[in-house]
Amino acid sequence: MEDVSIYNSNGKRNGRTLDHLRHVESMATMPSGAGKIPRLNAVILEMYRRSIEDPAGFWSDIASEFYWKQKWGQEVYSENTDVRNGTISIEFKGGITNICCNCLDRNLESGISDKFALYWEGNEPGVDGSLTYRQLLERVCQLANYMKDIAVRKGDAVVIYLPMLMELPIAMLACARIGAVHSVVFAGFSAESLAQRIVDCKPKVVLTCNAVMRGSKIIYLRDIVDKALTESTGNGISIDTCLVFENQLAMKREATKWHEGRDVWWQDVVPKYPTTCSVEWVDAEDPLFLLYTSGSTGKPKGVLHTTGGYMIWTATTFKYAFDYKPSDIYWCTADCGWITGHSYVSYGPLLNGATVVVFEGAPNYPDSGRCWDIVDKYNVTIFYTAPTLYVTRYSRKSLRVLGSVGEPINPSAWRWYYNVVGDSRCPISDTWWQTETGGFMITPLPGAWPQKPGSATFPFFGVQPVIVDEKGTEIEGQCSGYLCVKGSWPGAFRTLYGDHERYETTYFKPFPGYYFTGDGCSRDKDGYHWLTGRVDDVINVSGHRIGTAEVESALVSHPQCAEAAVVGVEHEIKGQGIYAFVTLVEGVPYSEELRKSLVNAVRNQIGAFAAPDTIHWAPALPKTRSGKIMRRILRKIASRQLDELGDTSTLAEPAVVDQLIALGNSKI
Ligand code: WT7
Repeated sequence: MEDVSIYNSNGKRNGRTLDHLRHVESMATMPSGAGKIPRLNAVILEMYRRSIEDPAGFWSDIASEFYWKQKWGQEVYSENTDVRNGTISIEFKGGITNICCNCLDRNLESGISDKFALYWEGNEPGVDGSLTYRQLLERVCQLANYMKDIAVRKGDAVVIYLPMLMELPIAMLACARIGAVHSVVFAGFSAESLAQRIVDCKPKVVLTCNAVMRGSKIIYLRDIVDKALTESTGNGISIDTCLVFENQLAMKREATKWHEGRDVWWQDVVPKYPTTCSVEWVDAEDPLFLLYTSGSTGKPKGVLHTTGGYMIWTATTFKYAFDYKPSDIYWCTADCGWITGHSYVSYGPLLNGATVVVFEGAPNYPDSGRCWDIVDKYNVTIFYTAPTLYVTRYSRKSLRVLGSVGEPINPSAWRWYYNVVGDSRCPISDTWWQTETGGFMITPLPGAWPQKPGSATFPFFGVQPVIVDEKGTEIEGQCSGYLCVKGSWPGAFRTLYGDHERYETTYFKPFPGYYFTGDGCSRDKDGYHWLTGRVDDVINVSGHRIGTAEVESALVSHPQCAEAAVVGVEHEIKGQGIYAFVTLVEGVPYSEELRKSLVNAVRNQIGAFAAPDTIHWAPALPKTRSGKIMRRILRKIASRQLDELGDTSTLAEPAVVDQLIALGNSKI
């Protein structure tokens, strides 16, 4: 496909301001019912139109730039009637490929073998490393060969529980190379959460490291895995091999606890294997990875992505939303334990042959200037983050595109990001998407249209967002309602692992004919999209998605907790904070100690990142006469919007509300 340079019309790479867009005067209508949009870039608009009117041609052209052992059939579509109520899912049916080959071998062949693929920045300033594309391929092949040798086969699951060492993307790519299905578990999850995921996907092997420093704290990852594996064995899952990377910066091997016969030192075995490894060719629809994410109810969902569509989607969204150029140095601060790290640390950038900064540490260690120190050190040109960081004394002159993700960015934060971080010269891509969507769905394309602070703007190629009302009827023009997607796109997840019924019920039943995102959204008179947050019981804490039900069940597992209700509240730094109403078992007195032990129950069962910010003692919870907890009221109490409680007359015991408010005003 023709490489359309989005915004080189003025011939300048830097120093662009919003004003330079003003020359694009074409008035046009987006075919999404969005209405008239001023000053859309005509080339981009034409591409968008084609992506909707001729998706087969559009995606075929893009996919042809990748390596396929065997091309897909005539049609890139397949009817997927049982799932999508007749809408289509974009699949490269019949295509045979491999995403690792496309990230590495294909790029090496194009002549970039000595280009840096990864710059690694450790937790401690001054500790760093790097790998060229050739070196990365060699490391990937060694690990792939080792895994083949211990009988990991195509289709087998591999659990990866690693911090942001280079070994994490290496491990993902090695799995992809041999057709194994990786399931990365964020290394902040507790042993119990890890065990739950291991029991669900039954991996052949677990890859981890002995320990990691996070800021000034040490975390013993191998011991957490050990505990998880003991628990998994109790559930009938036995794992023969746990491959442990010796992370010498955190802990020497002599100090590491060991399970003889099961635990194997990575450095003792992997480097002995050949640095070349043949590629396992897989079907475009073969699974690439599972990633567990929280829903509004029940246990975490294993979101399953397949190979072909995900590959095309992450590569294309990365290229256009960040206006990627081969000379860029790209840094995404996300951890590979989340979808952002899958799509925009590993696959998307590497498919484009980009140089990626991988950062092990915390953004505020040793101080709050760390991020900008890293930007200056590597001359980062594209910076992608959840916008909750602070800027101090650094120059940041290398930056040219900024990305934002994970939560609605409010207009004042947007202005800060634009004016302070980007010195009023870098476009901001506020990318709206989800674990399920594989990649960006609604996002500005730098220079394609004027930005509005706080709006994710318009859909990416091939995406047809619609806003529906309670009844599921599409609303046109200026409106607000539930955000759904009509039709499909290549990066869409294909199922929830082992629970296809839940996939249909959660995403396709609420509004028949559409994919339901779980988000609220409004559209303004110019057709811009404004995300307004989750409309279900999911909380977004610093870009980490947490189900209220999970936190509640962790709290209730505490012997002194009778009942719990968790809601999200606005949080200055984290976007949303976790606010828990707790009813104790009768006769148990409130105490500071008990408050801590409740918080610890959540840390142990889910992970520290899910720990409630507030425990609000509740003699009882407000419920309807049928026993349903009125979360709407709890949200108002939590955010102290006491004059907006609304109608409380349907409560079984309206007095409960006054009790709660009174307790909220006093300490314990
Ligand atoms: C939820 C998905 C996708 C990567 C990070 C989180 C919220 C995501 C934005 C944005 C407003 C956003 C939504 C979405 N979200 N990006 N740019 N503006 N809200 O992935 O854990 O799957 O969470 O994050 O509520 O549904 P995730």
